[in-house]
Amino acid sequence: MTSDVGVYPSIGILQNESAFRTTEDNFSSRLAQYEKIDKIGEGSYGTVYKAWDRTMQRFVALKVITWSSQEEGIPNTAVREVSLLREVAHPNVVQLIEAIPQGVKLTLVFEFLEKDLHKLCESRITPIIGAKLKKIMFQLLVGLHACHCRRIVHRDIKPQNILSNKDETVFKLADFGLGRAFCVADQTYTYEVMTLYYRAPEILLGETRYHSSVDMWSMGCVMAEMALRRPLFSGETAIVHFIKICKIMGTPNEQTWPGIELLPHYNAQLPQWQGVDLAAAVPTLDEQGIDLLRQFFVYSPEHRITAYQALQHGWFDEVREECESELQPQLFQRYNERVL
Ligand SMILES: Nc1ncnc2c1ncn2[C@@H]1O[C@H](COP(=O)(O)OP(=O)(O)OP(=O)(O)O)[C@@H](O)[C@H]1O
Ligand SMILES: [Mg+2]
Repeated sequence: MTSDVGVYPSIGILQNESAFRTTEDNFSSRLAQYEKIDKIGEGSYGTVYKAWDRTMQRFVALKVITWSSQEEGIPNTAVREVSLLREVAHPNVVQLIEAIPQGVKLTLVFEFLEKDLHKLCESRITPIIGAKLKKIMFQLLVGLHACHCRRIVHRDIKPQNILSNKDETVFKLADFGLGRAFCVADQTYTYEVMTLYYRAPEILLGETRYHSSVDMWSMGCVMAEMALRRPLFSGETAIVHFIKICKIMGTPNEQTWPGIELLPHYNAQLPQWQGVDLAAAVPTLDEQGIDLLRQFFVYSPEHRITAYQALQHGWFDEVREECESELQPQLFQRYNERVL
């Protein structure tokens, strides 16, 4: 990974020693700074509200997470993870402004963005293709690269966790690292089975160590979904979902995916599907787009494309200059550059 680091100078990291403030702070008064306006969503971890930040005179999103364990309160593991996230500041990652613990409740304060990619796709009658698709993917990969460099894996990239501004020019990844923050904490998710559509095949087969390559698979799913206006792989259970992937990408084996036979849910009895022509499955992408997509969908996590490598792909050449010129001034004005 080291050779991948730092070349896209879009890695703006703010180092903040006091990431998670101590209990000496007055949590109630900090909460009072935010005036709840509307409930905007319900996710795996908690409820999201739009709120007005009276001090800074801006809108924010409050994510309120409640723990079921009355005695123990918020687990230290979650507190530590959230502290780490506060240190990541990047124009393509939704900023966690602060985290306010109160008993069994934790309020995460995020910068507010007007749209999410799921609703945005639903509101359109045509797929997202061409330069617009390239610009969105480029921005998300730059944000992803910045986090992967910090060894932070998202683990749940999906259209609902991709937010944009009103005019759809800036796209950001939301909920970075929350999967880890709240999984290790042994939190039972509030409700709803998490969607499998964007899940990497190694996770479906029972791999429990999450490497950054899981996010790259998800990025492929998101790219295909924008181009198709519907998910490319869409199984409701892990096995059905895995079979759907096999039917399109071909059934993996020890040759195409060294180590697959060691995974807990590997089943040698699965039919050997050959897969289909990806260009026919996603006809709205050109040859280069299909080439990139194929590299997101490499079965072997070790051989799957990284965010940095994806950013070098020729498919982005058409928008590269524009994207880079938009990114640089923003970075130099707002962020402390830190050489990794
Ligand atoms: N920072 C934010 N600004 C504006 N809207 C947001 C923000 N964060 C979340 N939302 C909205 O709230 C919805 C619910 O968010 P939440 O992250 O809780 O659930 P989710 O993304 O559907 O699932 P998950 O909990 O697995 O991430 C999102 O889909 C999005 O529309
Ligand atoms: Mg979310």
